Amino acid sequence: MNPHAEDNSDFGEPIFCTHFDLMEALQRENAARTARENQHIPEDDDHELEPAPAALPPSKPDPITTPSAPPLTGRAKKNVQKRERERTKRKEATVAALQDPTPPVPSPRALDKAAACTPLATSYRAANFRATKPRWNGLATPLEHPLLKHAHDVEILKQHMDYFDWPGDKTHVVLDRQGYVIGALVAPPVQGAEWESVAARAAAVRAARAKMTFPAGAEHHRRAAGEGFPTAATGFAFGTGRGHVGNIKASSFTNAAALDEMLGDKDVERIATNAFPAFQALAYHIFSDYHEAKQLLLQKYPHLRKTFPRSPFAALTANLGPVSVSPPHTDGNNKADGFCLINALGSFDADKGGHLVLWDYDLVVRFPAGRSALIPSAVVTHSNTPIQAGEDRFSLIQYSAGSLFRWIDNGYQSDLSWFAGASADDVARREEARRARCAVALRKFSRWKDIKVKNYAGRPRLDVWQHGDLAEFSDYTDESEGEQERPCKRLKRGQRTAP
Ligand SMILES: [Fe+2]
Repeated sequence: MNPHAEDNSDFGEPIFCTHFDLMEALQRENAARTARENQHIPEDDDHELEPAPAALPPSKPDPITTPSAPPLTGRAKKNVQKRERERTKRKEATVAALQDPTPPVPSPRALDKAAACTPLATSYRAANFRATKPRWNGLATPLEHPLLKHAHDVEILKQHMDYFDWPGDKTHVVLDRQGYVIGALVAPPVQGAEWESVAARAAAVRAARAKMTFPAGAEHHRRAAGEGFPTAATGFAFGTGRGHVGNIKASSFTNAAALDEMLGDKDVERIATNAFPAFQALAYHIFSDYHEAKQLLLQKYPHLRKTFPRSPFAALTANLGPVSVSPPHTDGNNKADGFCLINALGSFDADKGGHLVLWDYDLVVRFPAGRSALIPSAVVTHSNTPIQAGEDRFSLIQYSAGSLFRWIDNGYQSDLSWFAGASADDVARREEARRARCAVALRKFSRWKDIKVKNYAGRPRLDVWQHGDLAEFSDYTDESEGEQERPCKRLKRGQRTAP
């Protein structure tokens, strides 16, 4: 359903949707998910996981030997030793901070940049996010929207939805009507020629794709439109039908080596990680959940594979093109009250294709290569518009499965195991905890009024929300209903909404 299509006088002839019962959909989705898990039936988009190692391999001495330094004496020797001690101390502090489950706070620079963002207001209401009843995951089915059949036609979408002609030079926060940060378009940290050579940086993705082989049909899946594209994933997950948290299994040794080589490319890493500070500053509570969960799991299961050292995300999927264009879909296995990070790469005309369409928000965004977007992909239906013939587009998607958070909440076990050992009182307490968790889900999203004054953690608010449990996010009733942002309307390049 399009919640604000009726208010749009420019929308043309009204198009009526079939009735959509949200509660019924939530209950149906949750029941189906539970049944699949109880029967150990994997989801169609679950990653195959590697078996957990029986025991940790014994640590080996580092084979790399330090080259012998020229002999130093006196003051020079002392200075070198001092610098070495300071360097080691800084490195240890950084590693300790990253490995501590306590989330690091945003840097002053990240807070300055977040406060300087330009808001992009929508008339969407975040309370309408569609999550499953336990709230860990989103719905697998995309939003019913009257324009879905025109998903491939960017001109029709531009005409009937809000269009933001993003040049990609400034960071924008996407706001719901009450000022919640429900997305971000993240500009690169530097401008000009340095970043404009991003198409060349994507060469590492092309090279990785050329080295990989895939079985027939691997390019066709529910996230692929048109001729399709294969994907390669790494990191760790826990999916329906799996017995334990584990590393995502590569389709072959060759593919795994090519993916590792690609992620080891300094330019690819720079593109994939440049939006982390923005994530931390613009969605601190969500970032904290991700960081804490990842570090807890890494501490408990040291064999789990990391992606990038600074990443709060558990996994990464590379959409390997050469035409990585997705139809409208949700990534329901991702955390419902969370964000995934999308990095666009490749060589394509962003004026003509590769747009990011956020259907729930009625928003089409120009999305150039080398830029990043944070979206709640589990609960918002999203897609890309097709690129032109002869162009290529790749993307990196970083995310954490909602089931990882559920695994931790269950005391590091699956729902099936938990229920097998639970008493009636345990089940009752679990339901209370679920209600409390659902009640605060929406407040995980930051408010713009806090971000713009660098109050990244938000103002102190009531800790317990007393309302019912109708549908996870819609439990929320805002304490400042009158404080509404005006929606954007066909924003052109350079045009901004008032902060
Ligand atoms: Fe997606």
